[in-house]
Amino acid sequence: METLNFRRHRRLRKSAFLRDLVREHHLSVDDLIYPLFVVEGNKVRNPVPSMPGIEQLSPDYLLDEIGEAAALGIKAVLLFGVPRHKDPVGSAAYHPHGIVQEAIRAIKAKYPDLLVIADTCLCEYTDHGHCGVVENGDVLNDASLELLVKTAVSQAEAGADIIAPSNMMDGFTAAIRKGLDDAGFAYVPIMSYAVKYASAFYGPFRDAAESAPKFGDRKTYQMDPANRREALREAQSDIEEGADLLIVKPGMPYLDIIADIRQHFPVPVVAYNVSGEYAMVKAAAQNGWLDEKSVVLEMLTGMKRAGADLIITYFAKDVARWLKE
Ligand code: PBG
Repeated sequence: METLNFRRHRRLRKSAFLRDLVREHHLSVDDLIYPLFVVEGNKVRNPVPSMPGIEQLSPDYLLDEIGEAAALGIKAVLLFGVPRHKDPVGSAAYHPHGIVQEAIRAIKAKYPDLLVIADTCLCEYTDHGHCGVVENGDVLNDASLELLVKTAVSQAEAGADIIAPSNMMDGFTAAIRKGLDDAGFAYVPIMSYAVKYASAFYGPFRDAAESAPKFGDRKTYQMDPANRREALREAQSDIEEGADLLIVKPGMPYLDIIADIRQHFPVPVVAYNVSGEYAMVKAAAQNGWLDEKSVVLEMLTGMKRAGADLIITYFAKDVARWLKE
């Protein structure tokens, strides 16, 4: 044995206290953003079958849910609206009394300090399910921008603290930044879904938000999962156009992208732990195939390690509870 020369890495793993001392990355309740689906009506609570534990909520129940989240220390929510009325131009998205606008007002009245982030997109509001205006089967870029700006401004007018545009039209950040500035909201930050892939992991979300495209797919506007350098180009444009925070989406299968963005751009990076990632873990846990708590904490810590500052996750309440234990 004397001739062997090797390092004893296990020295620093000897006890739980020692491991705590040398741990490089930490998950905190401050990292969490909790996504919520709001529907019209009163006393409405619709479970989303592909996302056990997640429900579409009417504003009254939404406030209860937010009360629970806030009591656990969660500081930010991300709102998605599921309107009753859909049309080709998604008018419910930018109606001054739209479902999200009303929900924001109600939340800010009851929880003024809570950060309300508004997802700014049209797919939940259009009858064809695409994220913009459609003409001859094509999603029009510049015509969609105008509607997106109207949506963002109406959300800011309702009191949204952060605007999160997710429709992936070119120039959406530039257009929204100018729209917000012109309307007097120069200090409302943009958290842009700069790097958003055309992912099959959004399946359960489209049940929850009732936003699946009625024809075709989103591949002409969302990114090809096979591309890595393209993420840098998307991020670069969004920063030049005025994005304050960048979202990478999905999270788990795209940790390399999170690491790239962290390395190249000095802005806060947000990982979106999407609906399909949630559904997989839930399904396995319900079958007794995985230990939910350990898997979720490991998965989200992995996103922090890759470089995420913040994580949007449907597990937010569970994680907040587990971190207190
Ligand atoms: C809206 C939007 C989507 C998600 C967030 N914003 C769906 C999509 O692009 O089809 C997906 C979130 C998730 O899967 O959890 N465009």
